[in-house]
Amino acid sequence: MCGIVGYIGKRDCSDVLMDGLEKLEYRGYDSAGIAVFENGSIKTVKTRGKLACMKAKLDNEGKPLGCCGIGHTRWATHGEPSDINSHPHSNGRVTIVHNGIIENYAELKDFLKEKGYVFLSQTDSEVVACLLDYYYSERNPLKAITETVKELRGSFALGILFKDFPDRIYAVRKASPLIVGKGDGEFFIASDIPAFLKYTKEYILLDDDEIVCMENGKAQFFNVHGIEVSKEVHTAEWDVEQAQKQGFPHYMLKEIHEQPDVADKTLKAVIKNGVPDFSDAGFTDDIMRSIKKVFVVACGTSMHAGIIARYAVEKLARIPVTVETASEFRYMDPIVGKDDLVILISQSGETADTKAGLELAKEKGAKTLAIVNVKYSAIARAADMCINTLAGPEIAVASTKAYTVQIAVLYLIAFRMAFANGNITEEELKALTKEIEKAPDAIRNILKKEDECRFIASRLVNVEKLFFIGRGFDYALSLEGSLKLKEITYIHSDAYAAGELKHGTISLIEEGVPVITIATQESVLPKTISNMEEVKARGATVIALARKGTKFAENTVDILFEIDTELPDMLTPLATVCGLQLIAYYTSVLRGIDPDKPRNLAKSVTTE
Ligand code: M6R
Repeated sequence: MCGIVGYIGKRDCSDVLMDGLEKLEYRGYDSAGIAVFENGSIKTVKTRGKLACMKAKLDNEGKPLGCCGIGHTRWATHGEPSDINSHPHSNGRVTIVHNGIIENYAELKDFLKEKGYVFLSQTDSEVVACLLDYYYSERNPLKAITETVKELRGSFALGILFKDFPDRIYAVRKASPLIVGKGDGEFFIASDIPAFLKYTKEYILLDDDEIVCMENGKAQFFNVHGIEVSKEVHTAEWDVEQAQKQGFPHYMLKEIHEQPDVADKTLKAVIKNGVPDFSDAGFTDDIMRSIKKVFVVACGTSMHAGIIARYAVEKLARIPVTVETASEFRYMDPIVGKDDLVILISQSGETADTKAGLELAKEKGAKTLAIVNVKYSAIARAADMCINTLAGPEIAVASTKAYTVQIAVLYLIAFRMAFANGNITEEELKALTKEIEKAPDAIRNILKKEDECRFIASRLVNVEKLFFIGRGFDYALSLEGSLKLKEITYIHSDAYAAGELKHGTISLIEEGVPVITIATQESVLPKTISNMEEVKARGATVIALARKGTKFAENTVDILFEIDTELPDMLTPLATVCGLQLIAYYTSVLRGIDPDKPRNLAKSVTTE
């Protein structure tokens, strides 16, 4: 949450910062600001509202002219979105941008007030500026940072300017992401790689409490004791184009359409000689055989991917699986131990609750496996084993392609665990692998049905509430379909196991309430059809997503969306999800909402 950027080099800093903030706007968009050294003094421009408001302000007031500065796009935690609460914050001789939460800000604020500091904003971040100023008594920036960091509890990524040191940037992080981009005689800091991908693919990861000082085409790194450390330079595998809209009106639509390719890429990366092979990640057959129980710990869409995994692993590998939302897992004192595998799923690899779940699992001695989309992210680095999904940068707040590649990997894990545990033969393993290799084509077929999705969206645009139902894998997918729709359309939506509806929720069904039914699972189809008839009898508008050729009694279905695929029932979510994503996308657009930036949300949830 919140995006921070910084630049030092020879370019027009304001332009570079605004460019970077545009790429990071998915992290928060209730206000934005920049601070740039202009002729030796810091000039700050900031405002409430999306980045467009900031651009307008810079056009009106003139942009700061200089080659060194920091910027911020905010997702409010402490204090409402307002001009005054926007970053950068300055107090005394220090100007900062901050991503994270300072948990002990209230006590620090009291302490600093006693020392005579006056606070202008309601943010926790301003406390950091004051504390840095307080410890800057010897006019030693590095000392001020190391002393300050020792006092802070919580999470932070900070870009820092000291007024006495023009054209120098410091940055430090703990439990919030921050990457240093290394160009030709220039350096960048950013919460995420796309912010500087246009200028360089080379980057350096900061570990917790590490500090970087950038000046005169040089970057020096220090640990929390102020001792210089050397760092490895990585090269990003993402391309600039991947982080752009490429002619699509929204990132979300572009990312939905990338799914055939990214699914293909992700599958190919883990299928070797016709079977899934995770030995590169250290996830060997021996480890798979040693596992008594699997926990999947994740949030939101990634957690929904975990529910698909539960059905697949239990069905094929016959190993019990529990799926827990990470925010519960971390505080529930779970019964997890050394014979258990805890799978952490995260697109960003930096979700605070999922990261805490990982730490807890490690403390309890469980084996941990991360499935992440961002290479070298915090979760990727902390887990015992890690599988990288290859969705490329996902910028839209609503997760689409990341989910599809997550479930592709999870199916492959289920296949391999089934084989390792002797539940299926090598021939069966190869046959299942061949089936999942059809997924990219199956997705392509669904994406051709965009007009049908737009039509369904036109029927949802004015409704107040709706429901998703399904059984088995279709139920797991209903949860994701419902989340996708509600987060970007603001229509209240809930998902239920189809058989559960009559235990209470059916009282909400009345004339015209849409019930989106996913009915692709042959083994439970008659049961699902009965549930559709039950809601139809109470006036629901039934929208069915079913395999091509599925027969329904007359008047059971109002709108039929056919899933034309050769995928076996278990794997249909890989294709069906794309229809649900497109329906959500078009409903959002028809309601006049920006699906890339739904209200109150941010892409990376680095606070609990
Ligand atoms: O980066 P993560 O996968 O850990 O993020 C988890 C959730 O915050 C995320 O999936 C969220 O639910 C999305 N907005 C859903 O579209």
